[in-house]
Amino acid sequence: MATNLQAIILAGLAVLMFLIFRNLKRRLKEVSASVNRVRTIVRRIEDRLQSTATGKPHSQSPDAAAAPGAAREPTEVGMTTQNEQWFYSRCTRELYRGEGEIVDLGCWMGSTTIQMARGLSENSLLTAQGKKIHAYDRFRWEQYMEDIVTEFNMPVGRDLEPGESFLPDFEKRLGDYAEYVDVHVSDLGEETWPGEPIEILLVDAMKSWGLTNNILSQFFPSLIPGKSILIHQDFKYHLTYWIHLTQYRLREYFELFENVPQAFTMAFRNTKEIPSELLNQNYSLESFSREEIDEAMDYWHLIARSDGEGYGRNLIAAKAKLLLDLGDLEGARRTIDTRREFAYELDKDLATVDAMIVKAS
Ligand SMILES: C[S@@+](CC[C@H](N)C(=O)[O-])C[C@H]1O[C@@H](n2cnc3c(N)ncnc32)[C@H](O)[C@@H]1O
Repeated sequence: MATNLQAIILAGLAVLMFLIFRNLKRRLKEVSASVNRVRTIVRRIEDRLQSTATGKPHSQSPDAAAAPGAAREPTEVGMTTQNEQWFYSRCTRELYRGEGEIVDLGCWMGSTTIQMARGLSENSLLTAQGKKIHAYDRFRWEQYMEDIVTEFNMPVGRDLEPGESFLPDFEKRLGDYAEYVDVHVSDLGEETWPGEPIEILLVDAMKSWGLTNNILSQFFPSLIPGKSILIHQDFKYHLTYWIHLTQYRLREYFELFENVPQAFTMAFRNTKEIPSELLNQNYSLESFSREEIDEAMDYWHLIARSDGEGYGRNLIAAKAKLLLDLGDLEGARRTIDTRREFAYELDKDLATVDAMIVKAS
């Protein structure tokens, strides 16, 4: 009898402990969410104080992110504009639901990564708590980085020689945001992705056909149909026409999500599952007929130019560069001349490619 009573008391205690523990866990989660909210508010105040002190625009301006305007100084040092930096932080703050991973391919000094980390730190959804940004780069200093840093007087990489690692500089720039970032030092021409769903995929490393093919086959299959956002940082840029050609092949599986004004970025939502045979091709210029090339480049130019800010014109420069690479000098020249139909000045990327044509003539 006494043993039965003891057993009942013990079972009762066990149930009680279980209930207390479950409640405690829930409370801890709530406390952690509140702490995050307080940290967010503190960061916003710090950010505002800093912007007042330095005269630089602060980062919390989702409305401004969508609003076209004059070019502004970027908040973070990097190869991205203020508008795209705002857009990246808006994605992780307001759109990200924690249903998949956040991946940043080609992070360099982190202007993409830090802005996404900032947005993530301000995301109040419980499902987003504890999530990190997977930041990929080979972190190897190159001559063109040196040139950019010198031209724009950037306070990074000053003592680096080509071939040296810039990972310490990147980590230093992350500062407090390091806790939101998983760094992957890797060659994206060979990297594999383990297959977890990806909710936000930012691509700033499709710098060749090889990188394009590997990123397509490794990362794109993990996009979540109907949800994921694909951000192409190099879309309105003249040297990366493989992005336009492959994205044209995939256009049926995406819709335009945002054509960021005053920026190179175009973002797409993945609308339906992409057949794996489209992602596992060894694409090259030979994979596209001349007819498809014309269609693809003209199609994206007409969409990109709706940014109303002049970056869309770079698609004409991209097409001319493609034709130059095909050896069609006359076609490249004619393409640059189409700028007159759209009343584009011969400047920026158009002038760069025009100079390449002159040199090749
Ligand atoms: C244009 S920069 C990216 C700029 C950056 N997103 C920013 O916010 O300023 C391109 C980056 O891609 C990286 N990259 C180029 N080829 C790569 C490869 N094969 N594997 C990994 N990263 C690579 C470079 O190291 C460089 O940091």
